Amino acid sequence: MSVPHPYWLRDNCPCADCRDPRSGQKRFRIGDLPEDLAAVEAAEDATGLTVRWSDGHRSHYPAGWNDHEEPDDRTERAKRLWQAADFARGLPEADWAAYLADPEERIAVLAAVRRSGFALLRGVPAEPGRVLEVARSFGYVRETNYGALFDVRVEPDAANLAFTDAAIAPHTDNPYRDPVPTLQLLHCLHNEAAGGDSGLVDGFRAADLLRAEDPAAFALLARTPVPFRYRDRTADLSAERPMIGLDPRGAIREVRFNNRSLGTLRGPDGAAPDAFYAAYRAFAAITLRPELQLEFRLAPGDCLVFDNTRLLHARTAFEGASGRRHLQGCYADLDGLSSTLAVLRRNTAALDELEALFEGEGASEYLGEAVTLAEHMRQAGALARAAGAPPALVAAALLHDIGHFRGSGRELMAGTDNRHGETAAARLSRWFPPAVTEPVRLHVEAKRYLCTAEPGYSDRLSPASVHTLAVQGGPHTPEQAAAFAAHPFGPDAVAVRRWDEAAKDPAATAPPFAEFRPLLLELMG
Ligand code: OGA
Ligand code: ZN
Ligand code: ZN
Repeated sequence: MSVPHPYWLRDNCPCADCRDPRSGQKRFRIGDLPEDLAAVEAAEDATGLTVRWSDGHRSHYPAGWNDHEEPDDRTERAKRLWQAADFARGLPEADWAAYLADPEERIAVLAAVRRSGFALLRGVPAEPGRVLEVARSFGYVRETNYGALFDVRVEPDAANLAFTDAAIAPHTDNPYRDPVPTLQLLHCLHNEAAGGDSGLVDGFRAADLLRAEDPAAFALLARTPVPFRYRDRTADLSAERPMIGLDPRGAIREVRFNNRSLGTLRGPDGAAPDAFYAAYRAFAAITLRPELQLEFRLAPGDCLVFDNTRLLHARTAFEGASGRRHLQGCYADLDGLSSTLAVLRRNTAALDELEALFEGEGASEYLGEAVTLAEHMRQAGALARAAGAPPALVAAALLHDIGHFRGSGRELMAGTDNRHGETAAARLSRWFPPAVTEPVRLHVEAKRYLCTAEPGYSDRLSPASVHTLAVQGGPHTPEQAAAFAAHPFGPDAVAVRRWDEAAKDPAATAPPFAEFRPLLLELMG
């Protein structure tokens, strides 16, 4: 039997020999596949497609393996194009403290930068250098010849318009750099001068309007390489790119617009300068349309984060003598931000899964105790938290019995060791570090240990726990106890075990799972 596109299919074989399961990296080269590769057998059922290949390899493609999102989210296809009125009810903004404390808030901010091209963080302490902290909260600072950060304030005898009190029209920063910094941050330290308001324009929207109103001008700007240049005593930077960058399928992907550093267009083999200048002026006029200009005023503590390959930023003139105006800026990149957002989203989905377990199966009876399994675990987490345990141990206490889900707790009561510490640790290791998974793995061993090492401990076990102890191997022998005590995570497992024992109180009210989510997300890294 044949399958269509054998090389394509085989190149995507998900098995652990073909791809490292941890990173998804391929372990073979395309040239390693034999000539005349073909399927010998192919069968499709509800679980997916199974193929046996002419070279003996077997592949299984789980159902839905090829459903994926838009791979390039930099283009207009993945964006919400806007004009000023779209933000009449407020800017995408968040409080810096909330952003730090709550991963859901971080997701909202980072997603806004991707969809709308910007977000505003309020309440970032108005102190020098803090802008770097903001960049590092989601990615990596891009150092340039201006340093890790730069100061925007009036300077005597400035060679750059940025360091005067003049207005700056909507522009891309550093268009003379390749690659251009894809993100910019501007953090306001002082803004007491008259004027100096900020402006943003959606460059994709402006390009989209040009395409609709003057397709020939749009096409010209998209295909004409334009030189940008900057030089001073220590730097000489240049890049040649079109003002409107398209992806291979023709979608808008980058706007690079800056009259200050536009170099001399090469002629005459390039575009006719007159046609180019007509198109350039048409585009410039669109970027200045009032309905496109989103205007606001930065207050000390505000930090604007925006996509420098899409949004154009501007400021109005100010009166340098009327008060102090001082911003600090830095550059960063969208790849780091997107990765941080993807990991946060992935982890949030994992927490939804765990929360569903607590609320579903967890609401059922727990090995004959007076509390449900979910109550038991939430109580254990709460006890750890109340004891001031580090976050990893609070998480371990909260999650220690997830190995009992899927009905396996009944197995244990019926006399088979379900090895629920192992099961739980294996499941959790997809998301959590060893500081969480190891105490979970060892929490049964810790019971066996305590029954040997601590006189009277076994008297404190609940009847169900005494019953399962026997199934789990009984108290440790002195040798087993000594080995356990020497285990690096032994003491943490013992701590979890004590909260475990105490978390069977029908009168206690434990906080809901949702309350632990920020702590869990933080640990997922
Ligand atoms: C710049 C700039 C914005 C501002 O220096 O390139 O855009 O608000 N400054 O001063
Ligand atoms: Zn700028
Ligand atoms: Zn337990």
